[in-house]
Amino acid sequence: MGERRSRRPAASFFVAAALVQVAMFGLSPAVASTTAAPDGWPSPPPSQGGAFLVPLPIPPVLKPVRSDATTDYYRLTERAARQHILPGPATPIWGYDGITPGPTIVQRSGRRTSLTVVNHLPDGTTVHLHGAHTAPGSDGYPTDLIRPGASQVYVYPDGQSARVMWYHDHAMAQTGPHLNKGLAGFYILHDAQEDSLHLPWGANDVPIVIQDRLFAPDNTLRYPRTPATQASGVLGDTILANAAPQPYFRVANRKVRLRLLNGSDARQYRLALSNGQPLVQIGSEGGLLPAPVRQDSIDLAPAERADVVIDFSKVPVGSKVVLQNRLGSGPTSQVLRFDVVRHVTDHSTIPASLRPIHRLSADDASVTRTFTLESAADGTWTINDKPFDPRRIDADPKLGATEVWNFYNRSPQTHVMHMHDVNFQILDLNGLPPPPGTDSWTEMVTIPPFGAATVIARFEDFTGTYVFHCHVLRHEDNAMMAQFRVRAPRPRPPA
Ligand code: C2O
Ligand code: CU
Repeated sequence: MGERRSRRPAASFFVAAALVQVAMFGLSPAVASTTAAPDGWPSPPPSQGGAFLVPLPIPPVLKPVRSDATTDYYRLTERAARQHILPGPATPIWGYDGITPGPTIVQRSGRRTSLTVVNHLPDGTTVHLHGAHTAPGSDGYPTDLIRPGASQVYVYPDGQSARVMWYHDHAMAQTGPHLNKGLAGFYILHDAQEDSLHLPWGANDVPIVIQDRLFAPDNTLRYPRTPATQASGVLGDTILANAAPQPYFRVANRKVRLRLLNGSDARQYRLALSNGQPLVQIGSEGGLLPAPVRQDSIDLAPAERADVVIDFSKVPVGSKVVLQNRLGSGPTSQVLRFDVVRHVTDHSTIPASLRPIHRLSADDASVTRTFTLESAADGTWTINDKPFDPRRIDADPKLGATEVWNFYNRSPQTHVMHMHDVNFQILDLNGLPPPPGTDSWTEMVTIPPFGAATVIARFEDFTGTYVFHCHVLRHEDNAMMAQFRVRAPRPRPPA
């Protein structure tokens, strides 16, 4: 830790990097950085020896190959590339279209997406759209691999309301290493109800994935698969935002909407602003909250998202505000810095109510299931004492049913349970109602060491088999996964 930060690159590097940044990014990185070079980001390599030396890159928005009355057709190629992340040599990565994060897919609710993924990597891959409600064949089942040289079409009905999702690799026992190399990107759904709220939009609506990474001295990414990381997950000592180390982000003195995603393997963040200003949370995994919540800090476990607005209108131009990680220390305590650089008039709003929610209660459920989270003597992670087995069905909810699921963590590690296909509401976390911001629709629940959580889910629209698992990737890859099969209700026997 910290060792590579103390090495000093040549002074000429700083100067060249700074000039290129000014030329390429100017005051509007969101616009300037949408044209990625084929071998990675257009951004110059960052400098070492301090934070906030490179601009925040914004992943380019993917253009459809074609569109018809109902559907937009997209294509992504998974391939190896090199991307300038740290000073010195470019880092070998695996990226969708050769970049990490991959291009952002932006879609309207109600329009169908057909995504063709071509695998030019040496390993089998599968693509999961995290947060999507989709048929099993397009869900990226861990053994439903796209072989090297092959391709697969995924169809997303996009019937859900506006929200931020992300697509990432989900290959059996390889999800951790594949994500660590870069296989993840944003998928943002908009809808008319969201439009009517006049939240900050366009260049002021910015997706940011926060990831911690470990780099070797030659700038290659490390992913130590040891018994220790199998227990605790892989923790990096370098914090990246959109694959840039602790970047700066130039903003105007207005409201800015950030779609924050924790794309880390295991690290949890407690995000807060250095000037003491609150983060106004407007959405979570399941889309817009019923009403904005002013948060002094927001906790994000792996795969969790927070949709927040920061209002810089009272911050004097020339100020700098750091997005801190209050769970970190030293190099992991800072994520990025906002530089308020100009005056503008802001026409966006944060309405007092956003989207109504129908809250479920335990009385709505017909079935209750219980899952214990534990590790076996050899360190394998288990759910109800069993490691993942694709041939075994662990729960068989009926189509249309509402069920209560209890998770008991019987280990000294945090687990972050994620259900595919369905959204749920958290009813209870360690005996208490879920904290504000996590009490709406979601597909993630963070269960502290030896803690317990109760969630309520509705199994709608699709029959078939889906996985649920811990999203600490070393846990997921070491068998902390199970599956449910949604079955069609049995027709009534004739009277
Ligand atoms: Cu984000 Cu099953 O995954
Ligand atoms: Cu876990």
